[in-house]
Amino acid sequence: MTGTRWGKVLAALWDRATRREGPEMTARRVAVAGGASGDVLELGFGTGANWRYLPAGISYVGIEPDPAMLSRGRAHAVQSDRAVRLVRAEAEALPFAAASFDTVFATLTLCSVRDLDAALKEVARVLKPGGEFRFWEHTRPQNRVAALITDVACPAWAWAGGGCRLNRRTTEALNAEFAMEEITAFRMFLPMVLGVGRLRPEEQ
Ligand SMILES: C[S@@+](CC[C@H](N)C(=O)[O-])C[C@H]1O[C@@H](n2cnc3c(N)ncnc32)[C@H](O)[C@@H]1O
Repeated sequence: MTGTRWGKVLAALWDRATRREGPEMTARRVAVAGGASGDVLELGFGTGANWRYLPAGISYVGIEPDPAMLSRGRAHAVQSDRAVRLVRAEAEALPFAAASFDTVFATLTLCSVRDLDAALKEVARVLKPGGEFRFWEHTRPQNRVAALITDVACPAWAWAGGGCRLNRRTTEALNAEFAMEEITAFRMFLPMVLGVGRLRPEEQ
């Protein structure tokens, strides 16, 4: 989604869909964004669907590389009573100093970043010692047949869906980068993981 007409259509569809989400989606957003504290960074905020669930008293900055999402997010931010700082950037190259944030969080974003390992390394870099990475993401199916189907479907899906990779090994990458404080696997059409990771002691 890089400033194309299709990117604008996708941003409009996503914006509309997130404003009509049901209780299951809302519960996941509350579990992730609602637990943020202190200095907070959101990766790929889209059009701002998580903002309404942020607790009071935090300091928020969100990054988003897609111009159409960013522009919709900016319009919502103006109408919102929340103070949100919005920056055009990619998760793989965060324009922030090391150890800047108490909480970094992402919802349904890690499937779309260009380089998942690089993005997670950046999250680890900008987290303060003791900080946490909160996430809700879809991940590669465990079942071999289902995984194979996602391998076949992935190129077309990613092309049409703003780079979203159905077959990404997100759970493995998260476990490799962070010590998991909690992690729950469940299914909402796609296999999903939701949890909280912390820097390993040697990374702090
Ligand atoms: C499916 S949308 C989810 C948006 C939002 N997180 C939400 O839950 O509504 C995926 C988002 O990831 C963003 N994205 C894609 N590549 C990215 C990258 N390299 N770094 C950060 N965000 C990225 C997209 O622009 C898009 O806004």
